Amino acid sequence: MNTTRIRVVQISDPHLFADSGSALMGVNTSETLDEVLAKIQNDYQEPDCLLVTGDLTQDDSEASYHRLKEKLLKIHAPSYWLQGNHDQPHLMEAVNPSAMQKQIILGNWQIVLLNSQVEGETHGYLSETELKLLDTCLKKDPDKHTLLALHHHPAPINSRWMDRIMLKNPDDLARVITPHDNVRGIIHGHVHQARKYQFCDLPVMATPSTCVQFVPESDDFQADTKQPGFRVLDLLPDGQIETSVARVSDLPMTCQ
Ligand SMILES: [Fe+2]
Repeated sequence: MNTTRIRVVQISDPHLFADSGSALMGVNTSETLDEVLAKIQNDYQEPDCLLVTGDLTQDDSEASYHRLKEKLLKIHAPSYWLQGNHDQPHLMEAVNPSAMQKQIILGNWQIVLLNSQVEGETHGYLSETELKLLDTCLKKDPDKHTLLALHHHPAPINSRWMDRIMLKNPDDLARVITPHDNVRGIIHGHVHQARKYQFCDLPVMATPSTCVQFVPESDDFQADTKQPGFRVLDLLPDGQIETSVARVSDLPMTCQ
């Protein structure tokens, strides 16, 4: 049995452009991603893997995905990507096929990455194909602790506008998870904020964006003054997850 912890770094929602000068709501997403990656490099030298949980780029260009791939080379760890509502899956696959694995095995853990994108929509949905894949991974490796990753939030987070665009079929996800006893936690992006809550009696962890943040528990869209950040997850041999969120600075950030 593996006796060492597995360190996973999750970044989410970089919303990168092909043009390094472009901004999202006044925030240069290339610069903020660089700041996040510099902090990861400095504080967490060699994680076992880097997960990028959707909304990788903003302008639907192949060049934007190439820029992301190039930037992530600064981190000495394999990176794995999953699709958010803003993404172009065929470009992700074309630019970085090795990042598009659905199941990552690390010691006595597996990470399953699900695609919750609905083409042309902002909300999420897990197709039968994705649900079947998850079921197969859970059945095939019943002794592996499992971390599940997707873009959309599977349960309401008490934010009216955000909860309209959550995963639309959480009951289907629950139906697949419940018969198995090897799922230990769920991580997602999409909500541009740090949050911890429960779904199917499992810990669910939302992770800040590497660019603009959203105000938690807000009825309507509101940009937050919190800084870009990322999540670190230590997967322990006994199935426990130790996790924390780090931000590039404690100072308030201004958006437009
Ligand atoms: Fe996003």
